[in-house]
Amino acid sequence: MTTTSPTALITGASAGLGRALATALAERGWTLVLDARGADRLAEVATGLARVTTVEAVAGSVTDRAHRAELAAAVRFHGPLDLLVHNASELGGSPQPRLVDLDPQTFETVLQTNVVAPAALTRQLLPDLVAAHGTVLAISSDAAVEHYEGWGAYAASKAALDHLVGTFAAEQPALRWYAVDPGDMRTAMHQAAFPGEDISDRPLPESVVPALLRLLDTAPPSGRYRASEYAVREVLA
Ligand SMILES: NC(=O)c1ccc[n+]([C@@H]2O[C@H](COP(=O)([O-])OP(=O)(O)OC[C@H]3O[C@@H](n4cnc5c(N)ncnc54)[C@H](OP(=O)(O)O)[C@@H]3O)[C@@H](O)[C@H]2O)c1
Repeated sequence: MTTTSPTALITGASAGLGRALATALAERGWTLVLDARGADRLAEVATGLARVTTVEAVAGSVTDRAHRAELAAAVRFHGPLDLLVHNASELGGSPQPRLVDLDPQTFETVLQTNVVAPAALTRQLLPDLVAAHGTVLAISSDAAVEHYEGWGAYAASKAALDHLVGTFAAEQPALRWYAVDPGDMRTAMHQAAFPGEDISDRPLPESVVPALLRLLDTAPPSGRYRASEYAVREVLA
């Protein structure tokens, strides 16, 4: 089936930033394919958004090859892919271990989730993205460019994700490729990164969405952006 509304696939869409972005795109009439591991919470989000747009929820882990194939099939049912959002992410423990204490299995899971899966999913959906002259948006982190005690695995994965995006941009210049650092957000992942801390002063993920939408609307050159800087630059323009 081919729909006239643009289509987005958002990974990790049952909570936090992924859910907030899915909600905003649904309000704009986008057709959505959504993923997360927890089927119940994902179905709840999809049912809510289905009141305003076409939504398909496909539960599973991005690290699972068969699940990625299901996601690709779901996308193809709706037509070319205008936007692929790599948002699902693995923190690597709570509290996060120092590198000297990082067990190889945890490191592998972080890399599989944050780097290998986005690369594989992108490769799989490249024809669908090309057909739509589409955009890939990978949610990065300041940890990709800073060095924080305990953040080694996650930081290395986000730096690698940034690099993947940049290399894809060099190899596929007809598409738009963005790695975006959203800044701190009051989410389950952030609470896991700061166990026991009061994170109520951190902004909600919904507050980052306008910058992401502005990025998509204005389509600047492919590259790495910080949501906060981009929002300010556009407000001042
Ligand atoms: N929060 C921050 O302060 C912050 C700062 C910088 C960057 N980021 C980045 O922002 C993005 C969103 O983070 P968030 O804070 O919004 O996270 P969150 O609230 O914890 O939500 C994570 C979402 O991803 C899903 N998910 C996790 N692992 C998955 C997997 N293997 N396969 C499919 N879905 C998976 C979760 O659902 P299930 O658990 O049911 O799978 C959930 O829907 C991430 O890329 C994160 O690295 C966050």
